[in-house]
Amino acid sequence: MKKMKKLVVGNWKMNPESLLEAKKIVTEVKRGLRTIKNTQVVVCPPFVYISPLSGLQSDLLMLGAQNANADQMGSRTGEVSFSQLPQFNIGFVIVGHSERRKMGEDNELVNKKVKSVVSEGMTAIICVGENTRDNGGEYFNFIKEQISCALKDVPKKLLTHVVIAYEPVWAIGATALGPSELHEMSIYIKKVLKDLFGVFSSDMRIIYGGDVDRNNADRLVKDGNVSGVLVGRASLRPKDFVEIIKLIDSI
Ligand code: PGA
Repeated sequence: MKKMKKLVVGNWKMNPESLLEAKKIVTEVKRGLRTIKNTQVVVCPPFVYISPLSGLQSDLLMLGAQNANADQMGSRTGEVSFSQLPQFNIGFVIVGHSERRKMGEDNELVNKKVKSVVSEGMTAIICVGENTRDNGGEYFNFIKEQISCALKDVPKKLLTHVVIAYEPVWAIGATALGPSELHEMSIYIKKVLKDLFGVFSSDMRIIYGGDVDRNNADRLVKDGNVSGVLVGRASLRPKDFVEIIKLIDSI
């Protein structure tokens, strides 16, 4: 069976300020990826940049979306539907990022969005993560609940279209989790998936996000036992982002 590639996703959030800058970042990153063999790179820009950047996609770098509306077409002022994305060759969509959950997105809505993404043939990058850690380990149950709800009624055969991005909220924009704690969590998430679906398929990827940079990316992936990373701030710095990708590709 073909081995799944590792995955490095850049989440640009509400950046950069101009299309010119956006094009520069993508062009520079692509230039740095020529020697990459085992890693799928996905960059998720704001919606307004998706169309003008879509022509720059290649086998090495794909575009993803940061969100979309779970409803089909219709009267939803200011929204973009999942069904509008594939025409721009969008293959990946981030769902349930903690910054969206803070805006009111709950587990039920995340589940609706996951089902829309996979039904459009795209891959859902489902973000899960506790807000804080307690000594009693209650956060494990919190993660289990987020994963079980997000994947409710998702057919087992579509699990290859799902990536779990473990992003402890307290680490985002702050300080990364240690690789050994990540290892513990990745084992736990695999167990949760096995309990839910009867198997943990190696086709399903678990990635980590929260303060990933060039100084910690390879240890997080290697010692944390995950298949890749979701990068915020460092994905806007092409040199750093390429360095992260190269480090991960060489593992
Ligand atoms: P960060 O963001 O890498 O800047 O911590 C990660 C994220 O929010 O996905």
